[in-house]
Amino acid sequence: MLHRYVRTGHRRVDGWLSRLDALLIASVGRWQSAQGVVGSVGEIGVHHGRLFILLALLRKADERAFAVDLFDDQQFNVDQSGQGDETAFRNNLVRFGIAPASIEVVRGNSLDLAWAGLSGRLGPSVRLFSIDGGHTAEITRHDLGIADDSLGDGGVIVLDDYFNPEFPAVSEGMCRFMAERPGALAPFAIGDNKLLLARPDWAGRYRGMLADAVPSRHFVRDTELFGQPVTVFRTPRTPMQFIRQTGLTRRLRSHPLGRALKPIIRRFVQG
Ligand SMILES: C[S@@+](CC[C@H](N)C(=O)[O-])C[C@H]1O[C@@H](n2cnc3c(N)ncnc32)[C@H](O)[C@@H]1O
Repeated sequence: MLHRYVRTGHRRVDGWLSRLDALLIASVGRWQSAQGVVGSVGEIGVHHGRLFILLALLRKADERAFAVDLFDDQQFNVDQSGQGDETAFRNNLVRFGIAPASIEVVRGNSLDLAWAGLSGRLGPSVRLFSIDGGHTAEITRHDLGIADDSLGDGGVIVLDDYFNPEFPAVSEGMCRFMAERPGALAPFAIGDNKLLLARPDWAGRYRGMLADAVPSRHFVRDTELFGQPVTVFRTPRTPMQFIRQTGLTRRLRSHPLGRALKPIIRRFVQG
């Protein structure tokens, strides 16, 4: 079921999650289990459950899964990001074989929550935490704080929309968090619309694992963010992206022939 959900199943649930981002999250979750990293899995901002179902499918029998959303309290959805619907959410869980009773649902505004008040029910610690609730700077900063407080050894946080120009305050909230808690988290991978973070002493291991797990056509480059090495992955969508992300292009990049061909290719292929 997990494999099918990553390949195509997620498209049957309304929401925001690309196949590449599903693959990145699934690779992290499976690797954690293989490495003995344990803890709850959960998300702030589930909408109809597209990403959440992936987390629930990744959990082991003795691990908890939790979903936080405003659901009926949409008056607090200040930036209009999605629209949680608990009935649609529960129906979707059932469609993918997840018993709604096995999920801890927290209804309400994440701004009113703190990990200290949740850990008894959702904890003791989290290994995979997706943040995709309110997209203001204040809420992003706050939700990152909850996730950071909850994170167990080897845990990973998945932040949505960090590079999305439609929600610029997400990056502001993230920068505030990094300034207020320097060194707490290290980014290690960037997907289509997700930024993945871990404790600094785990980040390198996650990068190494993803380099093997993700098909090379998705690899864009190794670079840095907040002074940490990160790998950028992307679903190639334009002809130029397809060309750039082939193994041959990568090899040619550092070759004189590749440098000579670059302006010619750019002239004929846009995007
Ligand atoms: C972009 S959608 C989430 C998409 C979802 N992760 C998916 O996989 O498709 C954002 C969700 O966050 C919820 N939300 C917005 N502000 C919130 C807040 N302050 N506290 C809790 N949930 C919030 C909305 O109700 C909505 O369901």
